[in-house]
Amino acid sequence: MAQDMSPELAEVPQHIGIIMDGNGRWARERGLPRLEGHRAGTENIRRVLEACSQYGIQIVTLYAFSTENWGRPNQEVQGLLSILEQVIDREAANFHQRGVQLRHIGRLEGVSESLKNKVRRALELTKDNQRMILNVAFNYGGRAEILEAVRRILEEGVPPHQLSEEVFESYLYTAGLPDPDLIIRTGGEMRLSNFLVWQAAYAEYYAVNTCWPDFDEQELYRALLAYSQRERRFGKLRAQPVPR
Ligand code: IPE
Ligand code: IPE
Ligand code: MG
Repeated sequence: MAQDMSPELAEVPQHIGIIMDGNGRWARERGLPRLEGHRAGTENIRRVLEACSQYGIQIVTLYAFSTENWGRPNQEVQGLLSILEQVIDREAANFHQRGVQLRHIGRLEGVSESLKNKVRRALELTKDNQRMILNVAFNYGGRAEILEAVRRILEEGVPPHQLSEEVFESYLYTAGLPDPDLIIRTGGEMRLSNFLVWQAAYAEYYAVNTCWPDFDEQELYRALLAYSQRERRFGKLRAQPVPR
C-alpha cells in the first residue's frame, strides 16, 4: 500500500497537478462509449486522492475540463457535465469527511444554474478543511486565466512599475497557492494542453501511457519516485541550494 512505500521517497511534492487524460481511449479499448470512460475516470479521483494524502501531498490540482473541451461534440460535453452533476454531492460529502478542502479554478460561465449551485455548495461545505486542498480545474484555460488577470490589473490601474511576478500571481485563480512541483499526465501525450501555463514554469513533468481510469496507487508511486530522483535546479548550478 502507498503508506508502506513512502519511506523510499527522498522528496515528496507539496503540490501536484494531474492532467487526467485518456478516458475516451480507455473506453474505446473496451468497446464502450466514451462517456463510460469519463464515468470510470471520475470514479478514479477518490482512489488517487486518498493515496496522495497518504504521502502527505498537500495540494492536488486536477484538470477536469478545459476551455477547449467545449469544442467537442455536444453529446459528449453534455454527458460530461451530467456525470459531474450526478457525482458532485456524493464526492463533496466524502471529501468533507476526509478533511479535504475543495476549490475551483476556471469559470462557471456557460454552466447550468443547478451545476453552479452544486459547485458552490461543495466549496462552502469544505471551505474550512485543512488536511488537503483539492483544486479542480474545470472550464479552465491557462491563457484565459492570464488574460483575465491582465484585464483586472488594467481595470484596477495597477502602476506598471508595481507589477512584479508576485503581484501578477495574486490575480491568478491560484492566488495564495504555491506553484505545482510535479505535473503528471496520463494517456501518453507530452503536452500541457493549456494547463497551469504560468504556474508550471518550473514544475517537473511526468507522462505515462496509462489511461486515467487505470492510474492507480502503484502508478502514483512510480510518478513520485521519478520526481524524487529529479534534480531541480531552477536555473542555478548543482551545488547551490534550491528554493522550495
Ligand atoms: C480526458 O480524457 C478527459 C477530458 C478531456 C474531459 P479524454 O476524453 O481526452 O480521453 P482521450 O484523450 O480521448 O482518450
Ligand atoms: C486535456 O486533455 C484536458 C483535460 C484532461 C481536462 P485533452 O484531451 O483535452 O487535450 P488534447 O486535446 O489532447 O491536447
Ligand atoms: Mg484527451
